[in-house]
Amino acid sequence: MDQVKTVSQSRIFKSSHVLPPDTNNHGTLFGGKLMAYIDDVAALCARKHSRCNAVTASTDSIDFIKPVKVDNEVCLEAFVTWTHKTSMEIFVRVLAEDLFSGERIVCATSFLTFVAIGDDGRPTEVPKIIPQTEVEKFLHQTAPDRAKVRKQRRVQSKNLIEKIGSTLLWEEDVKSSEL
Ligand SMILES: CC(C)(COP(=O)(O)OP(=O)(O)OC[C@H]1O[C@@H](n2cnc3c(N)ncnc32)[C@H](O)[C@@H]1OP(=O)(O)O)[C@@H](O)C(=O)NCCC(=O)NCCS
Repeated sequence: MDQVKTVSQSRIFKSSHVLPPDTNNHGTLFGGKLMAYIDDVAALCARKHSRCNAVTASTDSIDFIKPVKVDNEVCLEAFVTWTHKTSMEIFVRVLAEDLFSGERIVCATSFLTFVAIGDDGRPTEVPKIIPQTEVEKFLHQTAPDRAKVRKQRRVQSKNLIEKIGSTLLWEEDVKSSEL
């Protein structure tokens, strides 16, 4: 595909007020809730960039650096950092803002890979991304190294699945305890 797009054409921001139903017994945002927010903004970003359906292929990691406290504003920013043939690397940064003081901290970061899916249900090509700012260029330059690690992890996951198969592991435990 010859089409190219800038990062700003698909950048996503999402803000929410952190209220008690979304928090745990420590008065901080549930990790699972934050993970869902991260996947949601990354998916929107992937769909805007590709203008196709897109699925999450993998998440490298989610680093929870600081807790997001109740009554904070939680703000997520997602943008495409790198594209290959059918895949897009998306970076998500999570910020929490104290609404009284205005203090803003980075609470989490994540790199996710999305794959564009065509009408035939198969991966389809995506436009190339053009990084423009210093941060965008830095994340773009460092992306091939992350992609290499991801490729190795994919092989390891396949090997692991081949080894353990789809038998329910507790059934194996019952069988071996009956021997
Ligand atoms: C992701 C998926 C579409 C890949 O399909 P596939 O038939 O294995 O496709 P391919 O091997 O041809 O890979 C297609 C692209 O996906 C990338 N990819 C596949 N698995 C990946 C992984 N675990 N991590 C990162 N990239 C991955 C490949 O590198 C390739 O990228 P490129 O075209 O830019 O080089 C398929 O594994 C899938 O549907 N997974 C489930 C997705 C899902 O249900 N997500 C959660 C809900 S949205």
